[in-house]
Amino acid sequence: MSSRRPSERRGSDRRGSGMSSRRPSIDPSRLVPMDKTTHIGGGDDFNVVFIGAGNIMFGSEEGPWNHSFRFEHKLGPRLKVVALIDPAIERATAVLQKKCESFVVSAYQDTRVFKTLEDFVKNMAPRDKPRAVVVGSPPMFRGTLEPGRDIEMQILKYFPGVAMFIEKPIATGPRHEIEDGYKIAKAISDSNTICSVGYMLRYLKAVQMMKQIIEENNLTVMTTIARYACAYEKAAKPDWWDKSRSAGPVIEQGTHFCDLSRYFGGEVDISTVSAHSLEWDENAGKLSKMCIDESVIAPENRIPRATAATWKYDSGAVGSFTHIVALHDTNYSCELEVYADGYQLKLVNPYVQPTLYVRKPGDEMEHAIRFPDDDPFFSEISNWIDIIEDIEEDPEAAQILSSYEDAVKTYELTWAIREASERSRAAKLQAGADAAKAQKAETA
Ligand SMILES: NC(=O)c1ccc[n+]([C@@H]2O[C@H](COP(=O)([O-])OP(=O)(O)OC[C@H]3O[C@@H](n4cnc5c(N)ncnc54)[C@H](O)[C@@H]3O)[C@@H](O)[C@H]2O)c1
Repeated sequence: MSSRRPSERRGSDRRGSGMSSRRPSIDPSRLVPMDKTTHIGGGDDFNVVFIGAGNIMFGSEEGPWNHSFRFEHKLGPRLKVVALIDPAIERATAVLQKKCESFVVSAYQDTRVFKTLEDFVKNMAPRDKPRAVVVGSPPMFRGTLEPGRDIEMQILKYFPGVAMFIEKPIATGPRHEIEDGYKIAKAISDSNTICSVGYMLRYLKAVQMMKQIIEENNLTVMTTIARYACAYEKAAKPDWWDKSRSAGPVIEQGTHFCDLSRYFGGEVDISTVSAHSLEWDENAGKLSKMCIDESVIAPENRIPRATAATWKYDSGAVGSFTHIVALHDTNYSCELEVYADGYQLKLVNPYVQPTLYVRKPGDEMEHAIRFPDDDPFFSEISNWIDIIEDIEEDPEAAQILSSYEDAVKTYELTWAIREASERSRAAKLQAGADAAKAQKAETA
């Protein structure tokens, strides 16, 4: 069992406050699944506030995410969820009821439900002060300085020094609000708050092995090629299909692979981002298995079926990303290739069955490494809690791999891709209109 270190160590990027430019990574052998680990030591209660009672927090049919389940395993009987904040009181009460009927009852039997964080603060007994707050509300309600959409600033105000975990993407508001994201990042960093953002794919063993190969061989990444093909048949949330509500699939979903691209390629020169899209009203964009009624969504808010983008990294390397809404059934098809002198690192199927294909100098065969029982959702939570608990540090100690500032940069990249594709579409439509006008003038 891990021991706590008594000393203070503040100002390290281990805390995810964005204090250092060093790119953190973790020895892949230290990323262990839940069933191969024991819960963290200590006897004192570990108070947590959950914000949002939805799928990411309590699980769903859609995927393996379920933060509460990982917290239960990491903290064992120490876990006390002191409050569940969600304006949908009935939903929150129903998930708590289920928990209280199960063997994890001790974590939830005293959980109180509130519509807002402010309500909780007004009614909070001193013993209920949280050590950590987990934010899994929809991104349209956070990531800004606007009242009601400023949960991060509220947490900093009411609970200074308390750790935060924030789901991705950091926001889905209008483009001009990205500046607010950077201001929030600065407030987090200035206050030295432990903060991790839910880009869990960074915690995949395969991804950390890619990092290890790059570091050990002193490689410089030349290009990243990312492809995210989602299975849309079960995408049943109308908001997801509506750009005015979820900001579109690159910002809401493709963000994971834009983030991984940045994790390997470094900072993106945003001015170089160019993109094209296949839209809903083009022949190739017709979908046969949509389970929502798209006709009720305003035409200008319907999502693209494919988006292809390229950019330059500050390092000189080039990046490309394609997001596709085309596959049926359930499983996604996602791949990330990273190239460096002599090396090809190919991450395949990270959501379902992560496999890393490695080609090295002197051997033209790709070698496959499989990671059958990897659980990046557990690893990201486990690392974050180890840092909150100040587990004794060694050179391989837990690291937060996605700081708030880093996540704002990913958000900015995804917005740049969306805007570049919309510019390309507008230019094409304009060119078509000009050509039609010219032809009409000719025939007149
Ligand atoms: N990392 C991943 O793979 C992954 C997977 C699923 C979801 N997510 C992210 O988690 C977030 C939530 O997604 P979800 O699928 O759980 O959504 P959801 O719709 O299932 O649940 C969201 C919940 O938040 C509540 N809510 C709305 N406004 C709120 C507010 N102001 N304060 C508190 N709660 C509020 C809703 O009532 C709802 O119960 C999104 O950012 C999503 O992208 C990430």
